Amino acid sequence: EEGGEAHGLRGRLVVVSNRLPVTLARKPSGWEVQAGAGGLVTALAPVLRDRGGLWIGSCGQGGEAEASAPFARFSKEAGYRLLPVELTGEEHRDYYEGFSNEIIWPLFHDFQSRCNFEPRYWNCYQEVNRKFARTVAANSREDDYVWVHDYHLMHVAGFLREQGARRSCGFFLHIPFPAPDIFLKLPWRRQVLSALLEHQLVGFQTLADRRNFIRCLQVLHPRAEVWGRGCVVTAGVEEKSVRIGCFPIGIDYAAFAKLAASPAMAAQARAIRQAYRDRTILLGVDRLDYSKGVPQRLRALRSALARHPELRERVCHVQVLVPSREGVGEYQELKNEIERLVTQINGEFTVPGWVPIHHLYRNLSRQELVAYYLASDVALVTPLRDGMNLVAKEYCASNVTETGALVLSEFAGAAAQFQRLGALLVNPYDTEEVADAIKTACCLSRPDRRMRMHKLRENVRRSNVSGWVDSFLDAAFSRHLDDFAPIET
Ligand code: ADP
Ligand code: G6P
Repeated sequence: EEGGEAHGLRGRLVVVSNRLPVTLARKPSGWEVQAGAGGLVTALAPVLRDRGGLWIGSCGQGGEAEASAPFARFSKEAGYRLLPVELTGEEHRDYYEGFSNEIIWPLFHDFQSRCNFEPRYWNCYQEVNRKFARTVAANSREDDYVWVHDYHLMHVAGFLREQGARRSCGFFLHIPFPAPDIFLKLPWRRQVLSALLEHQLVGFQTLADRRNFIRCLQVLHPRAEVWGRGCVVTAGVEEKSVRIGCFPIGIDYAAFAKLAASPAMAAQARAIRQAYRDRTILLGVDRLDYSKGVPQRLRALRSALARHPELRERVCHVQVLVPSREGVGEYQELKNEIERLVTQINGEFTVPGWVPIHHLYRNLSRQELVAYYLASDVALVTPLRDGMNLVAKEYCASNVTETGALVLSEFAGAAAQFQRLGALLVNPYDTEEVADAIKTACCLSRPDRRMRMHKLRENVRRSNVSGWVDSFLDAAFSRHLDDFAPIET
């Protein structure tokens, strides 16, 4: 099927995100552009290729300007153009680490006390968004569709208009949108909300996020009208309408299921299980981020081992952490806190031949990650707040044997889809509840696990990431409001 045809997309698709779906590495022979492994790129690549599209973003650590030849080569092979935006050291600090990750990230995940509302960050955020807008304007035409991703770039559409470039723009927020009592703390709340209303379509992960956005809108723009199940807002004096939708993101189900079903993978998973002497393996896989609730999870595990002594020597918790945002203070402190807890808990419970927590602090290849998914009996996905949480979906997609169980935080976007499907939902702040859920998950019967995991996998299969791209673009181009009902969650 030809990507894009079904959507009424006439021009090209221009994707804009802070990060390009590639990494840049300096090799002795010069810069090398390497493909990333994200689900988003898998879903967007066919549309971009078929429409002759364009992806604008940065690589995160500089060097983009020097790497124009490898970028051109990569683009030629990929079949669509990658256009790098290079950030200066100061921009990286104030726009990326500062405004994006010390203000919007904590605030939108309900951690207002972790916010550093530094006015300098706001100025730089606007400058970088202007820079992205200039790049979009210079490299696109009026009939192209501009799809902006995530909280780093909420102002691009507004600056495009300011620069006199008429473009149709859509925005998708991959992280949660907070309730008014939290959002209203943002010193630049009016500017941010108005900037989002510069898009013709604004998409969220869950109905709750969408509802929060509309409630903030009603507080800050009392004249805005919100009507119909088509979710159109007539925003104040200008009488513009903005579609506001809910599009829970999915993963590339087939890629995970296929990889997990290969004989080599079964052997690798078996080797992991043997190394853990066939004990019950509990798995946590997270970017090292305070929103993931890792210390809380470790305390719950300690409580489980204390309150349910029969779990001792029977379970091993494998916690995989991916280094992340190391330039931000809150992240450095978290690493120390987790390491201290792991040491304490292991010190308390270890006996000859059994260590309760195994801690991996590094990136894994897709192959290794899926081997761990497949080898584990229970996935512990307990973020304090999360837009969606793809690890939960990847775990299910990879569990081809349907023998695993999922303990899932009710504050992950994925809980909206998984709550009636057999995930064990928990409040990650409730240590004893999580401890008991760990115990319950370890004791589920074989048929019970199979039934639960089967339902979860069916849901992940049906709502995969290419369907997500289609539903967003369909909503962007549907002519009738009625075509645009919020999709089922
Ligand atoms: P977030 O986007 O906040 O990091 P998600 O759970 O939504 O959280 O997505 C995390 C992504 O990172 C997943 O696609 C997962 O496969 C990937 N990932 C997680 N751990 C590792 C790891 N150790 N090595 C490589 N990729 C990882
Ligand atoms: C979340 C955000 C993404 C971001 C990713 C990794 O998933 O929604 O926009 O790219 O985390 O964070 P990083 O700061 O390394 O890009």
